[in-house]
Amino acid sequence: MHDTRTRHMLDAEDVPDMVRDRVEASRDDGSSAGVAEAYDRLAPFYDWLQAPVDVLGGSKRRARIIRGAVGDVLEIGVGTGLSLGLYASSVRLMAIDVSAGMLERTRARAARLNRSVDVRLASVECLPFASASFDTVTGTCVFSSVEHPLRGLQEARRVVKPDGQLRLLEHVRPRRAVLATVFDYLSPVTRRLLATEINRDIEGDVQAAGFEILRVRRSGIWREIVARPVPDARS
Ligand SMILES: C[S@@+](CC[C@H](N)C(=O)[O-])C[C@H]1O[C@@H](n2cnc3c(N)ncnc32)[C@H](O)[C@@H]1O
Repeated sequence: MHDTRTRHMLDAEDVPDMVRDRVEASRDDGSSAGVAEAYDRLAPFYDWLQAPVDVLGGSKRRARIIRGAVGDVLEIGVGTGLSLGLYASSVRLMAIDVSAGMLERTRARAARLNRSVDVRLASVECLPFASASFDTVTGTCVFSSVEHPLRGLQEARRVVKPDGQLRLLEHVRPRRAVLATVFDYLSPVTRRLLATEINRDIEGDVQAAGFEILRVRRSGIWREIVARPVPDARS
């Protein structure tokens, strides 16, 4: 356990209940009944499924997003920890996911890489961290799986410092109308099989959550997004 945990965690008594309630609530509404369970099932095969994506440019995109992270970093939906080796050694890393099966692999990878990382079972939709805790919030291919992406991004907005950054690699709904329609038809299928939706407007959600997009690199369905929190008018 390093300093990041003790400085940023909410009251330790509250955290398990918050997380359990959130996970239970999302299971009760039917849709995410599945996100944690689906990724628990996918965990043993996940790296193999991801390998073709990484070969087709995913690794470079991931590296560009992760290498810019500095300071106290929160990685949301860390999965099996495919990004762990890309962080600068100076980064103090906290990583969350809703799937215990995926987190188990993150822990194993961190041990293999000798990478210090604080790993937590938590949902980005209800983060167990104090506001303005992190210099950088990162995520790769996460918001296509999060049940309520806008709520998750609002939570990211809450926990990032006013001068901090959100750095995301995401796939989104294609811009071409025909392809977009195909993705709309396929999305319920990918949701059922892979707990992933392929027709989301993540750029729009990032802005709606209170971020200003500083840079976005678009390549096909891929978006590398670097954003900063829009200052709160009340502060
Ligand atoms: C497609 S995987 C991506 C994993 C990893 N970021 C990567 O790039 O390989 C999506 C991950 O998001 C996690 N996830 C889904 N909903 C989440 C939520 N509400 N909060 C945190 N993690 C979530 C899943 O459990 C899964 O590990």
